[in-house]
Amino acid sequence: MRMVDIIAKKRDGGQLTTEEINFFIQGYTSGEIPDYQASSLAMAIYFQDMDDQERADLTMAMVESGDQIDLSEIEGIKVDKHSTGGVGDTTTLVLAPLVAALDIPVAKMSGRGLGHTGGTIDKLESVEGFHVEISDEEFVRLVNEDKVAVIGQTGNLTPADKKLYALRDVTGTVNSIPLIASSIMSKKIAAGSDAIVLDVKTGAGAFMKTDEDAEKLAHAMVKIGNNVGRRTMAIISDMSQPLGYAIGNALEVQEAIETLRGEGPEDLTELVLTLGSQMVVLGGGAETLDEARGKLQEVIQNGQALEKFRTFLENQGGNGDVIDDVSLLPQASYKIEVPAKYAGVVSRIVADEIGIASMLLGAGRATKDDQIDLAVGLMLRKKVGDRVEEGESLVTIYANREEVEEVKEKIYSNIEIADKAEAPKLIHTII
Ligand code: URA
Ligand code: CA
Repeated sequence: MRMVDIIAKKRDGGQLTTEEINFFIQGYTSGEIPDYQASSLAMAIYFQDMDDQERADLTMAMVESGDQIDLSEIEGIKVDKHSTGGVGDTTTLVLAPLVAALDIPVAKMSGRGLGHTGGTIDKLESVEGFHVEISDEEFVRLVNEDKVAVIGQTGNLTPADKKLYALRDVTGTVNSIPLIASSIMSKKIAAGSDAIVLDVKTGAGAFMKTDEDAEKLAHAMVKIGNNVGRRTMAIISDMSQPLGYAIGNALEVQEAIETLRGEGPEDLTELVLTLGSQMVVLGGGAETLDEARGKLQEVIQNGQALEKFRTFLENQGGNGDVIDDVSLLPQASYKIEVPAKYAGVVSRIVADEIGIASMLLGAGRATKDDQIDLAVGLMLRKKVGDRVEEGESLVTIYANREEVEEVKEKIYSNIEIADKAEAPKLIHTII
C-alpha cells in the first residue's frame, strides 16, 4: 500500500477502505508517513468529505493509536459528557454529583484548562485540599462506592489525534466535519465510557458559529458513536452569551453549589437538567427523558445531589464544609462594579470576549505553563434580555489588583444595551 495512492483516491472522491485508513493512521503515528502527505490527505478529506463508514474507521484507528482506559471494573453503564467548549461553562461540576446521586456511575477523566477559565480540575482545586492524584485502584473503588470520582489525564491517549490536530491547525484543515467529529469522538471513546452525551455549542463563544454547522457536527458525532457501539446522544445549546453568571474558578464552584441546591441561574439549571436527563436514560436510570428529569429534580429538592457533592469533595481530600459556607473558597481582594452607562435592555454579551476579560484577571491560562488565580473572575449581574438602569452594575469584577481599566474597557466594548432585546433560546435542538 502506498500513501500517495490513498491521497489520490480521496482527492478524486473515492471511499477509503478500513485498511487504507489504518495504514494512514498507523504510519502517521509512527512517523513513517511524513507531515506533507498527511496534510495533503487532510485537505482532500476537507474537500471530498467522508462517508459514515470512513468516519467510524478513522475514529477507531485513532482510538487504537494509543492507550485505552479500561473501566470494566466499574459496575453499571458509564456515561460521559462532552462539551465543545464555552465560557463560564459550569455544567460538569453540577452534572457529576447530580447524576451520581441517582446511582449512575460518573467516572470522569479531566484536564486542566487552556483559555478563558480553568478546566474542571482547576475549578475543583479551589476547594481546599481537593486533588485528583489518586491511583487507578482508588478511582475505581470510589466510583463503585459513591458513584463519582475525577482523575487527572493519564496514559498516552489518541496520539494520532494529537499529531493530526496540530497539523490541521497550521494547514487550514481544522474546519472539516469528518475530521472534527472523529477527533472529538476518538478521545471520548479512548477514555473508556460506554455511552456519551454531547453538548454542541453554537454562537459567538463557540467553535461552531451557526446552528447549521453545529447540527451537522452533532449528527456526525452521534452517528460515529452509535456505529462503533457507544450509545450517543447530543444537544445543541446556545453560547452566544456566557452560561450562568459566574466566570472564574472559585466563582464557578460557588455557582455549582447554588445550582445543586436548586438556587442556580435559570440557564445553567436548564442545561444541566437537559444533559443530565440524557445521561440518566443512557445509564439505564429511567425509560424516558421526562422521567429522568423528574428524578433529577427530586434529588435537587431533597438535598441528595448537594450531599453527593460533599461526599465527592471529601473522598478526594477536599474540605466539604464549603457546601455550607462558600466564604471558605479563595476570595479576591477587590470587588469592582462595572456600571451601565445608560438605561435600556442588554442586547448582547459577546461570550468569548468576556471570557478573555476574565483571563486578563488571571482566571485562565494563555499558555500551558501559566499559573491560575483561583479567586478572580467575573460575575455577570445582567444577561441578555434583562432591563438595566443607568449606573446599575452590569458585571462585578473579582480581582487581586486594584487596577482593572483594561478589563473594564473590554467589558464595556462587549456588552451592548438597546431599546429592546429578548433572551436567546438556550436549547436549540435535542438529537
Ligand atoms: N476539538 C477537537 O478536539 N478536535 C477538533 O478537531 C476540533 C475541536
Ligand atoms: Ca457559569
